[in-house]
Amino acid sequence: ERSLLGLKELSRNEIESILDRAHYWESQPEKLVPVLQSRFAANMFFENSTRTRFSFEMAEKRLGAQVLNFSAAASSVEKGESIYDTVRTLESMGIDAGVIRLKPAGVLQELAEKVSVPLVNAGDGNNEHPTQALLDLYTMRKTFGELKGLRVSIIGDILHSRVARSNLWALQKFGAKVSFCAPDNMQAPDLAAYAPYVPMQEALQADVVMMLRVQLERHAEGMLRSADEYREQYGLTEKRAANLKPGTIIMHPAPVNRNVEIDSAVVESEQSRIFPQMANGVPIRMAVMERAMKL
Ligand code: CP
Repeated sequence: ERSLLGLKELSRNEIESILDRAHYWESQPEKLVPVLQSRFAANMFFENSTRTRFSFEMAEKRLGAQVLNFSAAASSVEKGESIYDTVRTLESMGIDAGVIRLKPAGVLQELAEKVSVPLVNAGDGNNEHPTQALLDLYTMRKTFGELKGLRVSIIGDILHSRVARSNLWALQKFGAKVSFCAPDNMQAPDLAAYAPYVPMQEALQADVVMMLRVQLERHAEGMLRSADEYREQYGLTEKRAANLKPGTIIMHPAPVNRNVEIDSAVVESEQSRIFPQMANGVPIRMAVMERAMKL
């Protein structure tokens, strides 16, 4: 299978082989290894991105692929062309893989059934963000060696989080223990059967404290009553961070609302892995794009 639509359906072995291949790419001394020289990748972002978009491009270019960058705002989508017609257009021009980010959940699966080019999910509504979770697992594995038995707390806007969903599906395949912590109006009813919701004090006892961005752009009006109140109740403040176990690591997929879900000084703290997560996104996406396009 060359497409990567989500981690729920991916086997533990498949995930492990992507993580191992990312390790291989990270340990290569050469920045450019053109194994995908004759291959064409299209990065199709129908929703904004900084990290995912640029780390896919970095990964593709480091493997020598030819890269086409598509941004919805500068395309015929503005004239009303559909996502399906856009992907079919690029497919008919001869791309070998499409990286795609979409706002509405569920469209990606349908799209993948209709096109023959491999598709890589770069963020699918609130459904899955598999390469983010892969780089998160990679980051955890680098710190702790193995994922089995690891206690991971995912804190914040679970309802809107594709990152929480992909991490949950993947971490459980490895025997990690996932807990959620969220205000009532940011809990995801569809996930309640899979991991417990725990109070903040308990969530902070974990080996990995993963903070999520409050996704204001996906909120119904008034969901976040006050940023200060949210920080007070669910934020990883400097005070709370000072009480974490010394071995606990702090993660966040970013972008970060500094001083809302996490204090600015905590982002830069010694226990934070937020910038290493971004660095790890490149070898992970090299492994994923190699899998999608290798000859
Ligand atoms: N973590 C993440 O997906 O960031 P971007 O939205 O900037 O790609």
